[in-house]
Amino acid sequence: MPEILEASLSKRDQAFLVAAFAAAAYATPMGSGSWGSSSTGYGSATWTTSTTTTTSSGSYSSSTSASASVVPNPVPSSGVVAELLTADSTVDRFKDIQKEIAAGDVSLKFDFNPAANPAAPVGMGGQVDLANRANFPILTDLGISAAGIFFKPCGLNTPHIHPRASEFLTLVTDNNLLTGFVLENGLTSEFNTTLTKFQGTVFPMGSIHFQQNLDCTDAVAIAGLNHEDPGASSLAQNFIINLDVDVVDAALGFPKQIDGSNFAAFKANIPGSLAKGVEECLVRCNIPY
Ligand SMILES: *[C@@H]1O[C@H](CO)[C@@H](O)[C@H](O)[C@H]1NC(C)=O
Repeated sequence: MPEILEASLSKRDQAFLVAAFAAAAYATPMGSGSWGSSSTGYGSATWTTSTTTTTSSGSYSSSTSASASVVPNPVPSSGVVAELLTADSTVDRFKDIQKEIAAGDVSLKFDFNPAANPAAPVGMGGQVDLANRANFPILTDLGISAAGIFFKPCGLNTPHIHPRASEFLTLVTDNNLLTGFVLENGLTSEFNTTLTKFQGTVFPMGSIHFQQNLDCTDAVAIAGLNHEDPGASSLAQNFIINLDVDVVDAALGFPKQIDGSNFAAFKANIPGSLAKGVEECLVRCNIPY
């Protein structure tokens, strides 16, 4: 726990901040420094290998890694979704989709394999591959999307909201995945549970939620979302990094030790949306942080 936060926060708040903001405060931020960017060296090198790899996050097996023969999902040409959105009928829309499939511009299947999703954001703790209307246009007007979430040991999918969708997430590997959400003002106690293989849970639309791999091995979850463009807003990143420093300072109650002099350094250490994980797990799994 970085000293900087301790002065002004209660124990419970500290615990939250450990998970939300500071667990990977010592971790190197993603290569580009931009948490929403496409894959970085670290992630792509790690997730495209088909052999067991040792990284700074420890050793993990190839079971959830990509194989070299994976073909990236096709990137639809611009204008495809706009055309589908304006089709006169569902039949017309699917006739367009049929043509796009024949042209190789659109696929009837989506591959969640990280290697098939080179544009997905990669964090120190894994990556999320979201199939939405933009990269899987057959979803247009179907009101549904899905994500494959690939966790490294201890990986934390940091607290975020989906502005337009509820989510039903199922763990598909033999792991323990802690999940939690806070609904909204008026009911602010945390709902949480730990999933094991093939168990699922729900995150209501707009709720702040997270998932944390409690194990020293890789984990994979698959989630369905009831919107074809569910969106995501990562709280630590968007609150601390993307709002004006004075507003953040005021919202945090003017903490004595986060101020103009060290705020830039504090911000720079906020990890990408899949962070390394909470301190207890990193220590238990011997992962440097
Ligand atoms: C689970 O939620 C309860 C409040 O409902 C909270 O006290 C507890 O710290 C949470 N546990 C974990 C592991 O997040």
